[in-house]
Amino acid sequence: MREKIVAGNWKMNCNESETIELLNNLKSIEKPKAIRVIVAPAFTQLAKSKELLNDTSLTVAAQNMNGAISGAYTGEISADMLKGIGVTTVILGHSERRSLFQETDEILAEKVKAALKAGMEVIFCFGEKLEQRKLNTHFEVVARQLKVALFDLPGSIWKNIILAYEPVWAIGTGETASPEQAQEMHSYIRSLLVSNYDKAIADDVAILYGGSVKPNNAKEIFLGLDVDGGLIGGASLKANDFMAIVNAF
Ligand code: PGA
Repeated sequence: MREKIVAGNWKMNCNESETIELLNNLKSIEKPKAIRVIVAPAFTQLAKSKELLNDTSLTVAAQNMNGAISGAYTGEISADMLKGIGVTTVILGHSERRSLFQETDEILAEKVKAALKAGMEVIFCFGEKLEQRKLNTHFEVVARQLKVALFDLPGSIWKNIILAYEPVWAIGTGETASPEQAQEMHSYIRSLLVSNYDKAIADDVAILYGGSVKPNNAKEIFLGLDVDGGLIGGASLKANDFMAIVNAF
């Protein structure tokens, strides 16, 4: 059966001392054993975070990686480098990577393949923009994002993929998809997994919702039968808020 997951995407926040403080605060708060918790600090804090969370069940993830094995890619980080410090989970396809750093579905398809080939677990983000939802093309947009980046992968690799549906209009805006909108899209995504693979695979893939999830709306959103958790931005930077979301299940 699929996992329930709450992941925190810290984005470009938290220097070393702030990272230590936030992680120590997270460690001090009880969480239900059945919920998997993932945190994604900045690259420079990953090694320290691994060390600090060594004695816990929390997973440390990277927010991005390059699809090449090595070479002349100034400023980039490879899967091998992440694995070298024990980080084996990576977020790919976040809407900020797509919009600010021109990462297309085709580029993401390459990155996903590289990460999976290196034995990493991928949290794959996707979702429609506001104008696409207004035009009622959100289902088509999401279907294309998944098709290009993921649907040519073999079924056996899906145990290493977590999906994160994040409508762009809800990220960092304070506006969330309603619980009904989230469930509607998540159930559609699961139906795509059934049609492209089979029901057993579809039933096992965790589909997270992301976009302005806060302690006061998490419970309602997580009630959706196909909503298996959340990818949290802003609220993951406060230990109490993040753990309140974890405890909202
Ligand atoms: P938010 O960000 O929770 O601040 O809306 C979500 C995300 O970017 O993953």
